[in-house]
Amino acid sequence: MKVSIYGSGYVGLVTGACLAQVGNHVLCVDIDHGKIEALQQGRIPIYEPGLEDMVRDNVAAGRLSFSLDPAEGVRHGLFQFIAVGTPPDEDGSADLSHVLAVARSIAEHMSEYRIVVNKSTVPVGTADRVRETIARTMADRGAALEFDVVSNPEFLKEGAAIEDFMKPDRVIVGTDNPRTAELMRALYAPFNRSHDRVICMDVRSAELTKYAANAMLATKISFMNELANLAEQLGADIEEVRQGIGSDPRIGYHFIYPGCGYGGSCFPKDVKALERTARQVGYQAQLLEAVEAVNERQKHRLFEKLSARFDGKLSGRTVALWGLAFKPNTDDMREASSRALIEALWEAGARVRAFDPVAEDECRRIYGERDDLVLCDSPEDTLTGADALAIVTEWTVFRSPDFERIRKELRQPLIFDGRNLYDPRHMEEMGFEYYAIGRGR
Ligand code: UGA
Repeated sequence: MKVSIYGSGYVGLVTGACLAQVGNHVLCVDIDHGKIEALQQGRIPIYEPGLEDMVRDNVAAGRLSFSLDPAEGVRHGLFQFIAVGTPPDEDGSADLSHVLAVARSIAEHMSEYRIVVNKSTVPVGTADRVRETIARTMADRGAALEFDVVSNPEFLKEGAAIEDFMKPDRVIVGTDNPRTAELMRALYAPFNRSHDRVICMDVRSAELTKYAANAMLATKISFMNELANLAEQLGADIEEVRQGIGSDPRIGYHFIYPGCGYGGSCFPKDVKALERTARQVGYQAQLLEAVEAVNERQKHRLFEKLSARFDGKLSGRTVALWGLAFKPNTDDMREASSRALIEALWEAGARVRAFDPVAEDECRRIYGERDDLVLCDSPEDTLTGADALAIVTEWTVFRSPDFERIRKELRQPLIFDGRNLYDPRHMEEMGFEYYAIGRGR
């Protein structure tokens, strides 16, 4: 089948590569010259395991190509995927100008039936706006061609996006036209394992499903973080509690890890956007507001603990920091807990020596060169002259470090672990003063 995809960012590129991988002919269109030029030369603008090879293989096989020309995009694919960004406006709502610009451009160039598939995360009701925009633009040029608008939200995790696309838990398809539903089923059939993964529903329910999934996951995390803070006050260990409740299959073990807050480009943005959508229809989403507030507070927990330990006197101190990315296997630092900690430390007059396996370039891009930030080549390098070690990302290389060396190199054997990587009793035995989340102190 022939597929065109507008937006060669994270979602567009993964979707394009994976649809090509199963034999479709995919054309990715973007307005960014630099990006398209790089992609044509086989250079990928983002870090995502497996993506570069998959793009290269499919370009070589002639199934994946790139273009700057929207007219070519509209000619090419029966399926027209919109995968452009929807950055939050100042008030937290999604900015739809890119999505609607693509809709207009499709309508301007269309000469036969097309299925317009929205993959960008957009507020409920956006498919209707896309439909109106296409109809109006087409009317303006005196055309009246048949088209459909489908909502097909993505559920990709950064760092596991290829796996998530190739082996989806579910594929959500929102359409009111049964014939379009069948065509979408056929497009996604190669990704079914053991049973049909495609769930068809009406357009608005599909749009809301995306927000519901992310809001539920964010809620689980904030709930656990709330309980972790409470456990500290009560002298309980949240890790014991986690296992205790996870054993109930109705609760489950997944996604209930307490820590120093969730980050990334999705949870913070989507929780805010859903809250705002609720407000627009006159409903106050109290639970969502709390999920966000708890997370904001949680991002500051490590700093609070550090500051309390040093009686508020962090000026002139140096903190070693392990992890910059908002989670392992990505270089993404959007809304990362590391940023809340780094910025609070600077504010308090402290210096930071940080290490991250892949996010250091991104950190340099965000903060530039500064005296109070040293980016190190290894986890051990960060320890030199540091008063304490703080851990914010659970990269596997941090799981079993040389504790003896850490103890010797730090000025004091002080660790503030925002991801509960180690056993507090073991740490104490080794002579560390160990602060984790929801585990005693
Ligand atoms: C999230 C969702 O998991 C995807 O299903 C969704 O498609 C995506 O957003 C999106 O909307 O595009 P992602 O942002 O890549 O994916 O990251 P996650 O792996 O979900 O992690 C989010 C944050 O939650 C991280 O900062 C992580 O450290 C934190 N987290 C996760 C916890 O603090 N505790 C947990 O138990 C799990």
